[in-house]
Amino acid sequence: MITSIAIALFASFVVARFNGGVGKLPVMGYDTYNAFGSDYNGSLALEQIAAMKSLGLIDLGYNTFILDDFQYEVNRSATGELLGNKAKFPEGIVEWTKKAKSYGVTISPYSSNGLKTCGGYPGGYGHELQDLETWRSWGWSYMVKYDNCNFPSDNITQQNEYGRYERMEVAIDQLAAKYNEPPFIYSLCQWGWENPQNWAPRIAQAWRIDNDIKPYWNSIATVLKQASESYLATGFYQHGDMDMLEVGNNGQGTPVGDLTYDEQKTHFTAWAFLKSHLLIGTDLRNAANQTIEILTNKEIIAINQDLNEGQAIAPFRTDVYYQADDASYTFQNPPGYWAGNSTQGPIFMIINTADTTQTLGFNLTENWAVRAGRQYKVRDLWLHQNIGTAVRTWNVTLPSHGVAALLLTDDGPEPANETPPYSFLHQCRNLNTSILLKELPTSTSVRV
Ligand SMILES: *[C@@H]1O[C@H](CO)[C@@H](O)[C@H](O)[C@H]1NC(C)=O
Ligand SMILES: *[C@@H]1O[C@H](CO)[C@@H](O)[C@H](O)[C@H]1NC(C)=O
Ligand SMILES: *[C@@H]1O[C@H](CO)[C@@H](O)[C@H](O)[C@H]1NC(C)=O
Ligand SMILES: *[C@@H]1O[C@H](CO)[C@@H](O)[C@H](O)[C@H]1NC(C)=O
Ligand SMILES: *[C@@H]1O[C@H](CO)[C@@H](O)[C@H](O)[C@H]1NC(C)=O
Ligand SMILES: *[C@@H]1O[C@H](CO)[C@@H](O)[C@H](O)[C@H]1NC(C)=O
Ligand SMILES: *[C@@H]1O[C@H](CO)[C@@H](O)[C@H](O)[C@H]1NC(C)=O
Ligand SMILES: *[C@@H]1O[C@H](CO)[C@@H](O)[C@H](O)[C@H]1NC(C)=O
Repeated sequence: MITSIAIALFASFVVARFNGGVGKLPVMGYDTYNAFGSDYNGSLALEQIAAMKSLGLIDLGYNTFILDDFQYEVNRSATGELLGNKAKFPEGIVEWTKKAKSYGVTISPYSSNGLKTCGGYPGGYGHELQDLETWRSWGWSYMVKYDNCNFPSDNITQQNEYGRYERMEVAIDQLAAKYNEPPFIYSLCQWGWENPQNWAPRIAQAWRIDNDIKPYWNSIATVLKQASESYLATGFYQHGDMDMLEVGNNGQGTPVGDLTYDEQKTHFTAWAFLKSHLLIGTDLRNAANQTIEILTNKEIIAINQDLNEGQAIAPFRTDVYYQADDASYTFQNPPGYWAGNSTQGPIFMIINTADTTQTLGFNLTENWAVRAGRQYKVRDLWLHQNIGTAVRTWNVTLPSHGVAALLLTDDGPEPANETPPYSFLHQCRNLNTSILLKELPTSTSVRV
């Protein structure tokens, strides 16, 4: 009986969720976890929100503020409600929320699908709709980040990962129907352990692809490797969440990070171009100018928030048939060549994953959105300037762990008399069907 009601609700709302519903684009905002872990309270959170306002971040679109774990009272009320933590929010959670929202952010909740959150606070299991009602009554909205800790054992629930997470989806739809309001965006956090890209898009607008990020290069590299295996599930209303940003966490953050300026630019570019949420995770009171420069790069943000192109960039040269420099990527050595499309034109993200400076070259036609036989103006989205015209190839020289973020715009047919005459030779023929050139030698002609 209950199941059939749930299924009926699911069926009637699934269209609204994915077609014209919420969560078309990745979410931009702030989450307390990477900056502070468990060590934060309402006044510290308000200082971050005030800094977001004064630095222009809210106006740029960072307008969702997530209070991560460690923010409720340890016990629910006698009637099962979540309670705002009195020590951390002495003015009361509703009053605090009013102050926070006056800056122009939504306040969005964190919880977990279990009996307790990962930090030991009350979890949502068995209280899904009740907790949504509570958050709504506090003035919270927009998105739920939903973790994966402390779930009752299988012999009690007899649910798989999908079932664990479907419960909150059903409740979100029930709440939306009850109040005739848009549903909360559902951003589930299963850490990528059970290939969530295969099932999460059916019930959520976003799913975490990885374990908790850390503010070190080896963590960034690991997430890139994981993204290279799951990027294909992304699109409008379905985002692979690569976890909150560590931009700014050099000498600060929880734990204290050591990301260089180049590594932070690479991190931000990758998260933006792979259509991950962009959730700031650094103490903005101490933000370096370079941190703000990175977080406010409008040309990079425009790719993340592109209304016409929802799919993440894709790695190229990961094909085992391609005899490129590396077909055996690892967590320490993730793919460095990525490409995709945008409203303004084809984009490339080239990362130097090595520990020394390198020159990395590629053929334009390695990006599917590039047309062969045409030349392209190249814009560097970190230098904010056009850096030349590309005919067939482009090379970038990058410091260790550095990035090139390039936007190409069509600049007409390529010059006459290029040799060889076709940019992509394999199987090319004259119109009279004679072979223009001999086939490439088999050692390089690998796409047979
Ligand atoms: C919040 O935390 C800050 C910094 O740790 C501290 O100075 C302040 O007293 C705390 N405020 C409350 C209300 O606990
Ligand atoms: C929470 O509830 C448990 C079990 O009822 C109780 O032992 C504990 O003292 C309570 N903790 C607080 C902080 O009220
Ligand atoms: C589930 O398994 C635990 C551990 O083996 C056992 O103690 C418990 O009785 C089982 N519960 C049910 C409902 O079978
Ligand atoms: C940061 O930028 C501001 C405003 O442009 C400038 O006044 C300040 O000197 C800069 N600080 C550093 C450490 O470069
Ligand atoms: C790239 O995206 C733009 C914007 O949606 C679109 O107009 C263009 O046709 C796309 N390019 C290709 C090759 O599909
Ligand atoms: C670029 O294309 C040429 C001609 O097809 C090919 O020989 C070369 O290997 C390609 N270079 C790269 C970096 O893929
Ligand atoms: C890139 O490097 C390759 C190999 O050195 C070279 O053939 C090509 O002309 C270069 N392309 C550009 C645009 O500099
Ligand atoms: C086919 O066309 C090419 C290019 O126009 C020309 O060089 C060649 O002689 C033609 N072959 C035949 C058999 O007509």
